[in-house]
Amino acid sequence: MTPHGGYPGAEMEAASEMSSVAVAEQPQSMGTVRDQPVVVTGAAGLVGTHVCRTLVNSGFKVRAVVRDMAKAASRFGHLPIEIRVSDIRNADSMRAALTGAGSLIHLAAIAIEKPGQSYADVNTDATRILLDAAKSAGANRIVYMSQNGADAGSRYAFLRSKGIAQEMVAGSGSRWTVLRPSVIFGPEDEFVNVLGRMVKLSPLVFPLPGGGTAKFQPVAVGDVARAVVKVLADPESVGRTWSLGGSTPLTLRQMTERILIAMNTSRVLVGVPVTALRPVVALAQKVLPHPPVTTGLLDLLEIDNVIDKNDLTETLGITPTPFAPEELLYLRKITVSSAIKSLFG
Ligand SMILES: NC(=O)c1ccc[n+]([C@@H]2O[C@H](COP(=O)([O-])OP(=O)(O)OC[C@H]3O[C@@H](n4cnc5c(N)ncnc54)[C@H](OP(=O)(O)O)[C@@H]3O)[C@@H](O)[C@H]2O)c1
Repeated sequence: MTPHGGYPGAEMEAASEMSSVAVAEQPQSMGTVRDQPVVVTGAAGLVGTHVCRTLVNSGFKVRAVVRDMAKAASRFGHLPIEIRVSDIRNADSMRAALTGAGSLIHLAAIAIEKPGQSYADVNTDATRILLDAAKSAGANRIVYMSQNGADAGSRYAFLRSKGIAQEMVAGSGSRWTVLRPSVIFGPEDEFVNVLGRMVKLSPLVFPLPGGGTAKFQPVAVGDVARAVVKVLADPESVGRTWSLGGSTPLTLRQMTERILIAMNTSRVLVGVPVTALRPVVALAQKVLPHPPVTTGLLDLLEIDNVIDKNDLTETLGITPTPFAPEELLYLRKITVSSAIKSLFG
């Protein structure tokens, strides 16, 4: 039982009732986010799937922007949501997708560049397209999923693209909130699963880039989704940038040890300098249609991905799901053949 009535979303309803008083001078009360659809980009992705489910369970109307209808159908099942199939780089489609919407949760981004999709056009320029479309539609409430370490001045292209987009959102004149998670884990993630696939493909010995000393603060996708939906209706979050992390920082070596336990297997962990792995990764990037990692992402191991102040716990009061072997049992589905198949698409 919650103090607000004990049903899903009751706390958010209470928050939105309060907010219509607290932000009465604002052009649109927080209460309206419930009356109009919430547009979610990247809706069929790891975070998007969980965000859409949490929104629906909390009583929101959801309009999901996806690229691939078949993928969306497999991710959403019978969830009652409206689906728009489009590339977020298409300004006309984004204007149509935002028409009649009250708010935007912008999740879509790429971590690996491919021919025809660059960090600049997907992560950065499309954010501008979405901000313009939201403005024309009067969808004034925007939650943007940035990234811990994102910085418009970063020397890492991926973090730079997310940092520039984050600045655009913060300068948009909308009622924005930016969330900056560390690495996210969950059944469809592309970090822990990649490590799991590499384990399957590395019998006996597992090479740990840089000795596995890089630090992360892995946060569960369900906790991130709860955070997104919580801030959407929280007037306190407007104009704020909040960081999200798991309960504790872990080195890549500690994460790999837990992954091995979850997979019920063992490997000798051997540190390999990043400089030695770079040519191998560069070659894989050239020849594989779906390289598990790129040199650009490998370089990110140079900087720790930990959170200074964890707003997940300190501000939003969410107890983080631990990065524990029992939370990683989804890795047991990985087989040698599925690991090989993933490299080729
Ligand atoms: N995963 C993490 O560890 C992590 C950590 C910190 C921040 N984030 C941020 O969280 C957000 C969501 O990430 P995620 O982990 O859910 O990634 P994801 O699983 O790769 O999902 C990203 C989604 O964006 C969609 N997308 C990409 N380019 C698009 C385009 N041009 N037009 C339309 N849709 C497009 C993808 O569509 P398809 O389904 O068709 O590929 C995918 O559904 C991203 O902004 C990411 O930077 C993620």
